[in-house]
Amino acid sequence: MSKKPVIVFEGIEGSGKSYHISQLAKYLDKKRISYIKIREPGGSLNAEKIRKIILNKKSNFNKETDLLLYQAARSENMSILKKNYKKKIILIDRFIDSTIAYQHYGLGVNISLIRYLNNYLLKDFSIDFTFLNIVNKKNMLKRLKLRKSLNRYDKFKNNFYQKVQNGYLKLSKKNKTKYQIINSNLDMDRNKSLIIEKINKLI
Ligand code: TMP
Repeated sequence: MSKKPVIVFEGIEGSGKSYHISQLAKYLDKKRISYIKIREPGGSLNAEKIRKIILNKKSNFNKETDLLLYQAARSENMSILKKNYKKKIILIDRFIDSTIAYQHYGLGVNISLIRYLNNYLLKDFSIDFTFLNIVNKKNMLKRLKLRKSLNRYDKFKNNFYQKVQNGYLKLSKKNKTKYQIINSNLDMDRNKSLIIEKINKLI
């Protein structure tokens, strides 16, 4: 029987993660392999409502409020995720590493608190593999400029995103077999093939 892994795509703004997850979804559609795909923050109906509040340009919550809102959105997704766990392939555009990378490494929120909340929400639900998309400063800025509208989290200073990316890299180094780095400064089609090659080993 084929495996039904939980696959997460992580990375900072402009790192190509959303492009690659949608390319992977297209590939699975073509192969008629069933899966569910959600994004965070967002995903379920209620989580999308919370996303709008967090990312609204007019919001100015403090960093702890942001943490709790991201976790609130996650809490709303856990029933969908748990319902499909091991039954379907699950693709997630950002998940718990985003909270550690952005709220802890980027904004300095206590890491134990973040881990406690993540463990509390996830319980036995675990990630099988993460594609960590990385990008250099020049390409990140180029890609952000192409966006039609920028949300509240697209407007930090450059060095914030560098801190976040370094945070992601630290996380990936702690558990090397469960991460693959996708260098989005390199050829996109080549990266797409690398991802599909890995997925075919995982499913
Ligand atoms: P997106 O544009 O990739 O959908 O992500 C929205 C923003 O939310 C992005 O800047 C990263 C941020 N984020 C956090 O800060 N913490 C989290 O836990 C998650 C899931 C996202």
